[in-house]
This record gives sequence, C-alpha cells and structure tokens, in this order.
Amino acid sequence: MKGIQDGVAVVTGGGSGIGRQSSLRFAEAGAKVVVADVDEDGGYETVELIEEAGGEAIFVNADVTDSDDVDSMVQTAIDEYGGLDFAHNNAGIADEGARLAEYDEEEWDRMIDINLKGVWRCLKAEIPEMIERGGGAIVNTSSVAGVSANGSAHYVASKHGVIGLTRRATIDYAGEGIRFNAVCPGVIDTPMVQQAGEDNSEEMDRITAGIPADRLGDPQEIADAVVWLCSEEASYVMGQPIIVDGGLLAQ
Ligand SMILES: NC(=O)c1ccc[n+]([C@@H]2O[C@H](COP(=O)([O-])OP(=O)(O)OC[C@H]3O[C@@H](n4cnc5c(N)ncnc54)[C@H](O)[C@@H]3O)[C@@H](O)[C@H]2O)c1
Repeated sequence: MKGIQDGVAVVTGGGSGIGRQSSLRFAEAGAKVVVADVDEDGGYETVELIEEAGGEAIFVNADVTDSDDVDSMVQTAIDEYGGLDFAHNNAGIADEGARLAEYDEEEWDRMIDINLKGVWRCLKAEIPEMIERGGGAIVNTSSVAGVSANGSAHYVASKHGVIGLTRRATIDYAGEGIRFNAVCPGVIDTPMVQQAGEDNSEEMDRITAGIPADRLGDPQEIADAVVWLCSEEASYVMGQPIIVDGGLLAQ
C-alpha cells in the first residue's frame, strides 16, 4: 500500500467544514486529492486553498445520492492521477431536531440516502479500484450519534449504520489490504453547526457548556484523525469507530 505522500485521495463533502480540512490535510501530506461535493463554489474554493498551499487537487461535482456521479468521482482519480489509495466518505446532512414521529417518510429517505446509502455507494465504487491497486484505506464519517442517541432518530440511525458498514467492509475486504475505519466527531465548528448556532444560540451555548473540553472541536482536529487513520501509523487499526469529541461521551 502507498504512503500518503505517494497516494491519491477522494473526499466527499470536500467543499466545506470537515471535508475541506481533510482535503487540505491529505494534500499537505503530499497526496493528490479529488474534492467531491454538490457545492461547486465550496469545492473549487477548497481546490484553490490546496493549490495556494502548493498541493495538487481537482474538483468533481458529485452527489453521493447518484451512483453515476460517485462512479465518475472514482474514475476522475484514475484518469487524472492514475488510481485511488485513500477515501474520506464524509458528505452528510444534519438533522432538524424533530422527534421520531414528527418527520415524514421523505425526510427519513433523504437522510438515509445521503448519510448512509451515500457511504455505501462510495464504498462500492472505491473498493474495486483499491483491490486493483493492492490495497488502500478508507475513513467514513459517522458521529457521536453513531454510538449514542445524540441527535434525531433518522440521523442517529444513519450514523449507526455507517459504523455497521465500516465493520462489515473490514470483514469482507481486510484480506485484500484495505483498511476501513469510521471517525465519530463530537460538536465541530463547521458551517453545519454554525447554522444551528445562528438558528438557536442559547441551545448552542448549552451544548458547548456540556462539552468537557469547554469548546467546540476544530474541523482540523477531525482531519488529523482521518489522515492518521489512512497512514501507515494506523496499520493495525481496522473496523473502528474513532471518537473525537472533546470528552462529550466520556460523561
Ligand atoms: N460538524 C459537526 O459537529 C459534526 C459532528 C458529527 C458528524 N458530522 C458529520 O461530518 C460530516 C461533514 O459535516 P460538516 O460539519 O463538515 O458539514 P458541512 O455542512 O460544513 O459540510 C458538508 C458538505 O457535504 C456536502 N454535501 C451534502 N450533501 C451532499 C451530497 N448529497 N453529495 C455530495 N456532497 C454533499 C455539502 O455541500 C457540504 O459541502 C457529515 O457527515 C456530518 O454528519 C459533523
């Protein structure tokens, strides 16, 4: 398997927040990066930031709910950079805070389609190329809501599902040299959370006060975990949900 400095990475949701930072981190470590997102402006901005810092990246407009888009994201890595070694399957949407019986089937389907099935679509496209290369490493973004009920039911179910997929993929493909792990962020200072803070600042103050670290996480702190999980230093870490939450779940 290649080291990050010689490798090629794809990042979904790379146009904002955690995905932008992991794209930057991969590039800083020497990888060539395919930044995928439905937000073109955000995606191109991430590429610009990488290029300004001396790295190499390309933007692909890819919606993780569309298999053709996801296939062409992986194909771009092959066509532009010769293959695929690392993936951060990270694109996701947040919950609206409603209780289980309060949202409709359409909202349920949308949440699961992006947050859970989107990760499956990415894995399905990425794994054959990594097998072809002789190995790789993949990190899926779950959440503290993947190991606890911190969030609405459809968000919690989607993020628990991401950990299940990560574990099963490990059993199915560890023998092919591919490592799969999940990262479980706590409350991280990204546009997703900033929006929630703008909508309800008192609630955000309450949430922050409940974090032992007494602050929100920086997206860079998640990106560091993602790139480490893809590195040789994590060569025996497989099928794990890695919680990065400022102590939130320690309580
Ligand atoms: N911020 C947090 O506190 C937090 C905590 C736990 C987990 N997470 C997870 O981290 C991931 C990234 O979140 P973030 O906080 O950086 O949010 P963000 O909103 O800043 O970024 C998410 C990105 O995903 C993209 N995206 C949304 N739907 C997409 C789709 N269908 N196809 C492709 N791209 C799509 C958005 O355009 C956006 O650029 C999400 O999976 C989220 O659930 C975030």
